[in-house]
Amino acid sequence: MVRLPRVRGTAAWPALVAVLAMSLDAFPAGQAPPPRPGNVELTTFPAEWTYRPGGQAPFAEHGMVASNCALATEAGVDILKAGGTAVDASVAVGFALAVAYPEAGNIGGGGYAVLRMADGRTAALDYRETAPASATRDMFIGADGKPTDASLVGHRASGVPGSVAGLLALLEKHGTLTRRQVMAPAIRLAREGFVVDGIFRTSVEQNAALITRFAASALFLPGGRPPELGTRFVQAGLAGTLERIAEAGAGGFYAGPVAAAVDTEMKRGGGVVTAADFAGYKPAWRTPLVSSYRGHGLIAMPPSSSGGITLIETLNILETWPATAPWGSATALHRMASAFQRAFVDRNETLADPDFVTLPLEQLASKAYARELRKTIDDARASPTKALRPLARESRETTNYAVVDRWGNAVATTTTLNSLYGSGVWVPGAGFFLNNEMDDFAVQPGTPNQFGLVQGESNAITPGKRMLSAMAPTIVLDPKGSVLMLVGGRGGPRIITAVVQAIVNVIDYRMSLADAVGAPRIHHQALPDVLEYEKGGVPSAVVDALAGMGYATKPGGTGSLTAIMRSQKGWQGLFDPRKHGLAAGY
Ligand code: DON
Repeated sequence: MVRLPRVRGTAAWPALVAVLAMSLDAFPAGQAPPPRPGNVELTTFPAEWTYRPGGQAPFAEHGMVASNCALATEAGVDILKAGGTAVDASVAVGFALAVAYPEAGNIGGGGYAVLRMADGRTAALDYRETAPASATRDMFIGADGKPTDASLVGHRASGVPGSVAGLLALLEKHGTLTRRQVMAPAIRLAREGFVVDGIFRTSVEQNAALITRFAASALFLPGGRPPELGTRFVQAGLAGTLERIAEAGAGGFYAGPVAAAVDTEMKRGGGVVTAADFAGYKPAWRTPLVSSYRGHGLIAMPPSSSGGITLIETLNILETWPATAPWGSATALHRMASAFQRAFVDRNETLADPDFVTLPLEQLASKAYARELRKTIDDARASPTKALRPLARESRETTNYAVVDRWGNAVATTTTLNSLYGSGVWVPGAGFFLNNEMDDFAVQPGTPNQFGLVQGESNAITPGKRMLSAMAPTIVLDPKGSVLMLVGGRGGPRIITAVVQAIVNVIDYRMSLADAVGAPRIHHQALPDVLEYEKGGVPSAVVDALAGMGYATKPGGTGSLTAIMRSQKGWQGLFDPRKHGLAAGY
């Protein structure tokens, strides 16, 4: 991690970039950042779009927490009110999500956190899962030569979980409270239970087919039915595991009875994660990616997530147009899609775990490279993905939540089990679901994974390696270097495209936070070579214009975001209207 002087005033911002910039040609030191273009104002969303513009986001003066789960947000706010920092509160939210939001919150998965401390220091923690020691390159290829579903469902689908090591590393290095203090809300929610609401019940009901195949069935689906609304959902096994962690630290999870319970369940179900894999897990502190977009700073997650570099490459390409096209126009969407397409071609081909593969990160993040890519974009025509090759080259070996506090510390975190409820496997006694992150490897390079991502050789399975992610917790700074926005989300590759559009909506189109997140989005990930748009979000005349440029278009999904943005006297927080959650502060 790079230590920085406290950043104050306009003049300090170029210096900050000069110290940290991955894109070495950002702003020369001493030169004022360019003004926001601000040449286009949002008039309205399309009439058919689900959400109306002008929505309001909750406001809080001192500190704010936004997550996909109300109980987890409340846990974070309690920690802030008790004098904890954004780091302390983030760790509390992470553990609370593991109890009250088991579809994605977890201790059996992994994640990423990006920090910007009040004194200007930045940090990035990679606590992504790793492939177990006995994993093999072709472990998910069936006798017919095709990928099986074992990378998605069941015991073999799990990587070695990183969440517990990650949350504790965050607390130890940058937090101020004790493990017991930050874990107390989660332990209480598990031990005393929480009241079953419609969101939790529906989630269990919709995923019943997966859950019933494994050991969580008795607790989550007693008598084959999800817990009744208004009843209390107690998780005694999980409470015990959390208490062990609070007592013993990482060893309470990665050694002793919890690791043994995983080992036993894995052997019983034909999985390959062992107690020795647990003992060997370590999170990795990484140097955050630092870049800029139209005079604003960006602090983003480096590999093993592709999230930061892919969003930086996309924004760098968009920045080569000095003025933005009218919001929602065919030209604006074409440029956006073309930028995504090129950034994803590079992502899919070159990115992977930096501890195993040399990555062309400087090139991918550079403004000069973006200008080269821009030359390949015809403003009137789509480019077929098959005609695009990654230009970047080096040797061949080669549920989001956000918290800010009253001191100005900011933490953006994304964590996941991959699919909802991960592999479905639940560890009896220890009480948690295991991830199915092995599917984020290129289980057969060149063949699409569950998100349709076609990834290359660099992301093939190797023991100990982290599978490439698209998670993109991101912090945006204003031109003076103060935290402006924290944003991240869920949705696999759709995280990256959703985060980019929220940032562009704020910086280029001056939207409020609610509008920036609620606005309809598009998605393009190079392969499949299709421009997807949210139904009702793009008028048919614009869809026709895009088709006329040569795009295959179809309605499709997007990521769902959580975000916090500075407002005049405090903070606004938001969960995506497409999903559930709570933003609250004090
Ligand atoms: O790391 C990744 O890119 C995926 N495992 C993220 C999965 C995800 O966002 C699922 N969300 N609904």
